[in-house]
Amino acid sequence: MLRFGTIGTGWITDEYIRGAKDSGLWQLAAVYSRDLARARAYAQKHGAEYAYDSVEALAQSDLVDAVYVASPNALHYEHCKALLRAGKHVICEKPLCAQAAKVEELNRLAAERGLVFLEAIMFLHQPQLRALERALGQIGPISLAKLDFCQRSSKLDRYLAGELPNIFNPRLETGALMDLGVYCVYPALYLFGEPESAQISAHMLESGADGCGVATLRYPDKLVTLTYSKLGQAGADSEFQGPEGTVAVQSISRLGGITLRRKDGTVEEIHGQDEKYQLMGWEAKDFYRCITDPAGSRREYARWVELSLQTARLMEALRRQAGVRFASDGAPQ
Ligand SMILES: NC(=O)c1ccc[n+]([C@@H]2O[C@H](COP(=O)([O-])OP(=O)(O)OC[C@H]3O[C@@H](n4cnc5c(N)ncnc54)[C@H](OP(=O)(O)O)[C@@H]3O)[C@@H](O)[C@H]2O)c1
Repeated sequence: MLRFGTIGTGWITDEYIRGAKDSGLWQLAAVYSRDLARARAYAQKHGAEYAYDSVEALAQSDLVDAVYVASPNALHYEHCKALLRAGKHVICEKPLCAQAAKVEELNRLAAERGLVFLEAIMFLHQPQLRALERALGQIGPISLAKLDFCQRSSKLDRYLAGELPNIFNPRLETGALMDLGVYCVYPALYLFGEPESAQISAHMLESGADGCGVATLRYPDKLVTLTYSKLGQAGADSEFQGPEGTVAVQSISRLGGITLRRKDGTVEEIHGQDEKYQLMGWEAKDFYRCITDPAGSRREYARWVELSLQTARLMEALRRQAGVRFASDGAPQ
């Protein structure tokens, strides 16, 4: 077993811990919170032996081999950098960083030290990805794909009442594109590669964060639309269209609810929905495999690293085009 630590004490960290423990490959050794009392309570809740209120102390700790990072987006860079510099393997929540140059730097840091640095993107590690690819193989060349992730934020009412929850606070590099749009960008790049061109339009909130947006990626043989929102609740699936039929996906981030509709009218339900901790368990297993079997996982790992970089580049280009600016972008050019 490998020993891991965590940064972030939100529900997503609960799910990762559950998934990682459930894999039988990981033992939770330490947790970090900005607040020591919260760190201690969180350690007790999850059975970790050590609690830190300093990222540097966690990074320097001999008690952990690797760390799961689920801090607000604006802190990913400094947290990952401290951990990688200290020799820890890192799996960090999406999106890695607002600027692609930072992702490049972190990748370089990891490579120089022989460490694994992964972005926590669930669908890449799910066995259902193969099922989706097999289904797509049955509908012929795809001419149009509509990738959608619209989910009314549970924090929206607080925002509308005049508060500034983290998810609508640009100082933390959040908003709709960063939070949900990334789930549409990733499968587009994974399945179709980098587009010839990309156009985006975003609806901005008074806080300076984007509330929703629409992007179109142009490829020589297809168009891919990305729709994402923190304001409204989607009722429609993501959809891939080909001459022989359509593949619909209810949840593009989880690859849940995959349906193949052939042009002859037959319908095949390919996959239902997994629970969140199971999805995170797949990530934790691959993270473990990359660390313990570098030779056997080299090709996949290289692809995941390259994809995370392509995603950061496209996300940054879309974000700048949409006029979503963060302090870390520096002065406008
Ligand atoms: N894969 C998924 O399905 C999924 C789902 C949700 C979120 N995420 C990702 O996970 C990351 C965390 O998201 P989240 O919604 O949990 O974020 P969050 O609640 O805003 O913050 C995460 C943690 O960071 C600390 N924190 C909160 N506000 C902070 C601030 N202003 N400055 C410094 N630290 C602060 C808190 O821990 P302490 O105060 O205890 O230190 C908190 O538990 C994001 O990158 C997000 O995109 C992924």
